[in-house]
Amino acid sequence: MSFIYQNLRSGIVAASSDDQFAQAVLKGLTREPKRLPSWLIFDDRGSELFTEITQLAGYHPAQCEFEIFQNHKQVVTDLLAKSPFRVIELGAGDGGKTQVLLDHFIQSQLTFDYVPIDISEGAIKGLVAMLESRYAPSTMSVTGIGADYFDGLRAIKETSNLRNIVLFLGSTIGNMELSQAEEFLGKVRESLNPGDYVMIGFDLMKHPKTLYAAYNDSTGVFERFNLHLLDVLNRKLGANFAKKYFVQQGHYNPTTHAVESHIYSTQKQEVYFEALGKAFSFGAWESMQTEHSYKYTQLEIEELAEKSGCRIVKHLFDPQRYFVDSVWEVKK
Ligand SMILES: C[S@@+](CC[C@H](N)C(=O)[O-])C[C@H]1O[C@@H](n2cnc3c(N)ncnc32)[C@H](O)[C@@H]1O
Repeated sequence: MSFIYQNLRSGIVAASSDDQFAQAVLKGLTREPKRLPSWLIFDDRGSELFTEITQLAGYHPAQCEFEIFQNHKQVVTDLLAKSPFRVIELGAGDGGKTQVLLDHFIQSQLTFDYVPIDISEGAIKGLVAMLESRYAPSTMSVTGIGADYFDGLRAIKETSNLRNIVLFLGSTIGNMELSQAEEFLGKVRESLNPGDYVMIGFDLMKHPKTLYAAYNDSTGVFERFNLHLLDVLNRKLGANFAKKYFVQQGHYNPTTHAVESHIYSTQKQEVYFEALGKAFSFGAWESMQTEHSYKYTQLEIEELAEKSGCRIVKHLFDPQRYFVDSVWEVKK
């Protein structure tokens, strides 16, 4: 059993992902109103700040998913127990909640491979090191991959005949609009075989006051996380954002069915981006959206499974039904 880290983010791949980053920023800052996609924030420090969010008592998506794994780990184990299998986790981050499942698989003496994939190299390196110190030797082999989801999936497609289960947790799917989620899952489906499983964590629609409280903590972790995006832009694109002139707040938007995070410029200012050779103006109290967290209904999840060529095996809910981990099987 081995514990390996692979970095796929070098050479041409790194250059193309840097270009993709710059293009996403250019497009987002040219829009009216300004809006940047959530994935831009996840450098190593961004991942650490996200881990702090998952530890907030009021951040129900993480607390509920942890509870779901505690309560339903036997269901997932029974599903996979027939033969050796491979767990592929997209956007694993610190893998904190996943360990509840890994731990239970090991205790049940199941033999399996675990392949966490994340764009944040620091998160994956840290995860592999932690799993090795905690579990080696065991019935689990770990190959951590520092890469974009699909570069990672392409790299491992032909490397195993085992039945796969793909995990996409933490309501990361909510960072996409519905149409983007359909396209994303269609691509995931292409890299799987009939009979493979997918387990996705969806945050469910609930009272807007509960949503507001979850994304506006009194300790300011959400604000630090979102404002960290300005550090990322300064570092990666040579921008000159001064963080002290920006503040952040989360809102539930009933039109988009998403909690949106907005960064507000507290004064009129210009920000220059060396790598883009361009300056962008911000009016006083102009907002720039930095996060989009879509809240699903059960019906939308079921339609999404159908459109993705999957059948629903089981919905695993927390007791309050705030969150669901939906387990799907790829249709024959
Ligand atoms: C919302 S966090 C969820 C982390 C973890 N799964 C959890 O449930 O706590 C999203 C994770 O996806 C990763 N990520 C975002 N975009 C990615 C991409 N295109 N390819 C690979 N990983 C990505 C981020 O680095 C981050 O760790």
